[in-house]
Amino acid sequence: MKVTVVGAGNVGATVANVVALKKFAQEVVLIDIKEGVSEGKAMDMMQCAHALNFDTTVKGVTNDYAATADSDVVVVTSGLPRKPGMTREELVGVNAKIVKSVVEQALKYSPNAIFIIISNPMDAMTYLALKSTGLPRNRIIGMGGMLDSSRFRYYLSEALNAAGHPATPSDVDGMVIGGHNDKTMVPLVSIATLRGIPVTQLLSKEVLADVVQKTKVGGATLTGLLGTSAWYAPGASAATLVEAIALDSKKIIPCCVYLEGEYGEKELCVGVPIVLGKGGFEKVVDVVLEGEEKAKFEESVEAARAVNAQLGD
Ligand code: NAI
Repeated sequence: MKVTVVGAGNVGATVANVVALKKFAQEVVLIDIKEGVSEGKAMDMMQCAHALNFDTTVKGVTNDYAATADSDVVVVTSGLPRKPGMTREELVGVNAKIVKSVVEQALKYSPNAIFIIISNPMDAMTYLALKSTGLPRNRIIGMGGMLDSSRFRYYLSEALNAAGHPATPSDVDGMVIGGHNDKTMVPLVSIATLRGIPVTQLLSKEVLADVVQKTKVGGATLTGLLGTSAWYAPGASAATLVEAIALDSKKIIPCCVYLEGEYGEKELCVGVPIVLGKGGFEKVVDVVLEGEEKAKFEESVEAARAVNAQLGD
């Protein structure tokens, strides 16, 4: 498996590093427009190979797409991150140009690659990548739901511990669907569990509402603390998607994909659970949405459509 990561900034470098640590790929190419940065980060990662016992080759290049040829997966992280107080949607104009050109260049050298889109606003960038390349929908996947679900599990575990139910984030099962958007993402409280026990039996409505709110603004909280957006959990989440494709694991992970009638929606990309395997996204998994969660998902879809409308033709 050969993986290209476009953008050697905080998120891209973390993706490359975690992919190498997970040991499933033969080669990772890190590419950026900033002279020397990819080369330096790749060299630094290769100097971890002895200590961390991996055989993946990590190579850094500046703007040289020939080096990315025949990649199986291309992860797109190039673009501006948000600053404190900004929404992801404010990045649409500048990042659309970058994502479109990057995807087109990468596709020339890797015509069979599966693309994982990270750059924000991610739902709109995934839609743009799909529309501008005309690739089949199974090969364009946006990463947001995996990250938001990790944040949801983290905040659930914090609340469960505070309520006297010992829980680590990995003891908790929870999923976030809808757009990767502070206001409209949909943490699915109704199906969240602690080792099989519904969290609705363990936590009050008020506490659960607080968990949902903290999850939604989880990215903004970190941006406030860091002065730029987060990278460890985004990078690890993206590497997990790459791993599911590399190992053909058929994992069910919420990702942003183009809907063709699933969940009653079409002609947009938004987060829903999918089966991930060697062909990319193999199938949308149906979760029956009811009541408030159904209404919130519909709101999220409308918000995603409104950002797509800003992309123009
Ligand atoms: P960063 O600023 O650390 O890195 C971005 C890199 O992209 C820079 O090194 C820059 O030189 C490079 N770049 C810009 N234009 C390029 C081009 N045309 N070709 C190649 N490289 C180019 O930013 P960071 O923190 O890594 O975030 C990257 C993107 O990911 C942002 O848009 C951010 O909002 C988004 N993000 C998305 C998440 C998600 O869950 N989908 C989570 C975290 C960040």
